[in-house]
Amino acid sequence: MIPVINDYRKDKDQHFRRKEEVKKDERDVTDKIIIITGCNHGIGHQTALELAKRGARVVMACRDLTKAEAAKEYILKEVPNGKLEVVKLDLGEFNGAREFSNLIHAKFDHVDVLINNAGMYKFDGKIRRTNDGFEEHMGVNHLNPFLLTLLLLDLLAKSERSRIVCVASTFSLLQEFNVNDLNMENFKKFGVYAPYANSKMANILFMRELARRLGENSNINCYAICPGMVNIERVEDQSFLRRFLFIFAKYWGFLDLENVSDYGLKFWKI
Ligand SMILES: NC(=O)c1ccc[n+]([C@@H]2O[C@H](COP(=O)([O-])OP(=O)(O)OC[C@H]3O[C@@H](n4cnc5c(N)ncnc54)[C@H](OP(=O)(O)O)[C@@H]3O)[C@@H](O)[C@H]2O)c1
Repeated sequence: MIPVINDYRKDKDQHFRRKEEVKKDERDVTDKIIIITGCNHGIGHQTALELAKRGARVVMACRDLTKAEAAKEYILKEVPNGKLEVVKLDLGEFNGAREFSNLIHAKFDHVDVLINNAGMYKFDGKIRRTNDGFEEHMGVNHLNPFLLTLLLLDLLAKSERSRIVCVASTFSLLQEFNVNDLNMENFKKFGVYAPYANSKMANILFMRELARRLGENSNINCYAICPGMVNIERVEDQSFLRRFLFIFAKYWGFLDLENVSDYGLKFWKI
């Protein structure tokens, strides 16, 4: 754990130094159709806000429509002319990805960017299964986004230049990736971080393999990134104690949610 945190600290210093470079590299996303999964909260929400500011047509793919509409309202207060649409997506079972894909195919003739951001992490040492019978982290964080990506590939291919981004994590380096126990049948052997770490390593391997299969001449680019260690509560939602503790957490490389859109999503490429 400590080596990973130290890496975060080093990298964070670097990407703060590269701030100006980021600004120059911002591309115009006006009217690009960008799907972001799990964007009613946290990093996904901040990303949706930032892309709405830059004129993108943002599809907010969320499982809880009430939370998603509230998140959309929050963004519209900041960006009154924001182009946002909520579409239901539950990554807890394969049918969720299939239903979402059908809705997107009915609404759009192409997709420019797919950001597989939705994810869950529970470090309580318990193994839970999705309705399809997979370990929950593997199902929600990897298998369903994997299916979703393949189902949307035809629409991504129709964009002049498109990209797929998987929000992975350097946490994946905490555990050895165990291909013989992806469903965590022998979980106790590997420690509490293993289910999350494995699912995030699967994200990275998926992006590498998809990029390889699409080939160098493909118009679809694939990325696996780590956003850094991010405090996912907005400042106004944080208790006084959390705000105070975060002053110290920043020293160890934690990022404010608001900084993620400026620096994080760009630089923690894996
Ligand atoms: N925060 C960090 O330091 C950090 C570091 C490395 C990587 N990451 C990755 O960043 C991504 C975003 O996480 P976050 O930290 O911003 O956490 P977060 O605020 O908890 O956001 C997670 C999002 O995923 C959604 N989600 C969870 N399970 C879902 C399901 N079954 N179907 C559809 N949506 C589901 C959540 O929706 P509900 O609100 O309905 O639960 C929420 O919108 C994750 O992939 C995470 O692994 C985060």
